[in-house]
Amino acid sequence: MEKFVITGGRPLEGEVSISGAKNSVVAIIPAAILVDGQCTIENIPDISDVKILINILRDLGAEVNFEDKDTLSINSQHINSYTATYDMVKSLRASYYLMGALLGRFKKAEVSLPGGCDFGFRPIDQHIKGFEALGAKVKIDHGIVKLEAERLVGCQIYMDVVSVGATINIMLAAVRAEGLTIIENASKEPHVVDVANFLNAMGANIKGAGTDVIKIKGVSSLAGGTSHSIIPDMIEAGTFMVAAAATRGDVIIKNIIPKHIESLSAKLIEMNVEIQEGGDYVRVIGVDEIEKANIKTLPYPGFPTDLHPPTSVLLCLAKGTSTVTEGIWDSRFQYVDELKRMGAKIKVEGRVAIIEGVEKLSGAPVKATDLRAGAAMVIAGLVAEGDTEVYNINYIDRGYEDLEVKLKRLGAKIIRKE
Ligand code: EPU
Repeated sequence: MEKFVITGGRPLEGEVSISGAKNSVVAIIPAAILVDGQCTIENIPDISDVKILINILRDLGAEVNFEDKDTLSINSQHINSYTATYDMVKSLRASYYLMGALLGRFKKAEVSLPGGCDFGFRPIDQHIKGFEALGAKVKIDHGIVKLEAERLVGCQIYMDVVSVGATINIMLAAVRAEGLTIIENASKEPHVVDVANFLNAMGANIKGAGTDVIKIKGVSSLAGGTSHSIIPDMIEAGTFMVAAAATRGDVIIKNIIPKHIESLSAKLIEMNVEIQEGGDYVRVIGVDEIEKANIKTLPYPGFPTDLHPPTSVLLCLAKGTSTVTEGIWDSRFQYVDELKRMGAKIKVEGRVAIIEGVEKLSGAPVKATDLRAGAAMVIAGLVAEGDTEVYNINYIDRGYEDLEVKLKRLGAKIIRKE
């Protein structure tokens, strides 16, 4: 088991380049199952979720090779299995995208229920509703979702909740269905757009991604032969923005789409942090007096739930009392007990964290309870007095490429230890 050891108290300074988006790539690699020929995917982040997905595709019979460090070529022509077993998917929440992709390709799929981060009940009823509307019969048997359709036929689906996963999954199943599928109340997240752009580049006909109505005209096959570059990771970008502000540093976060992270920039400005925005970068200049703020997480373009735990660390250092209301997940507050061990004053009432600003945090052994909670612990360690040990960093490795390497380049004192 590895851990991070962080000596806090150093402002982050310099430039950091953001990698490809985790939540895009974990959908686009399975989407390649729908492509009959070869496709090339650029800007692949080096994270463990990607490694797991590559192994799953190889197990299914695809040819997957790195052309260089961050360019992957996938040829799914010889995939001969529609089954993803528990052993293959147990540590990967996004394995649910295998359902839509395999169903779209084979009209049949058997996929074990997903693993991944645990922050409350994570239903897939909207995914299933979409698959059924397209004509699939869905059964859950001994933890395996079994899907089968004689034909997949386009239809109109109204999503009861705005779901990233269900929107993408239905899109995957619909691209090779017969006729027109319309998804209403769709998720507008940038990675939904990225998946649609990837599929369109391969020959699909998807319009409206990025709005709440997506129209997918089915095509008989996706020829591939082209390449697609993954969008920058807005959550990684946001994590570095918060880390820069919390350490009272001065960091240029490069290779991003600033629009994707506007909800955070606006909040940081409200907190008195200086933000300078360029075409593909944001510069964050920390201040001594951080103002309190109230945040509510919402579907995009609202404040992202995945930045809730990191931002709470910043609010711990603000003047006065702030609140964070979690609007997406039932339970995303496991990080609170860990932060309290470092001197934070946080009370949780239902879905609201009430955060009273403190003078300082003090280093302590803490654990990452999930991916973004792990990022929050690292930021807490960077600002705390003394040493912080962060355990369970395998969660962090799932979604952040070289986090400690990038932080070290910005002047942090952080090492990875067995
Ligand atoms: N929901 C349902 N039924 C469904 C699906 C979702 O009720 O069938 C509910 C969920 O319980 C939740 C809300 O809808 O309350 C939103 O869930 P969504 O489906 O959008 O989440 P997801 O697709 O499972 C993705 C990201 C998460 C991120 C959420 C919200 C991926 C692989 N994961 O999850 O990212 O928190 O969207 O933005 O894209 C992370 O990166 O750390 C992470 C957890």
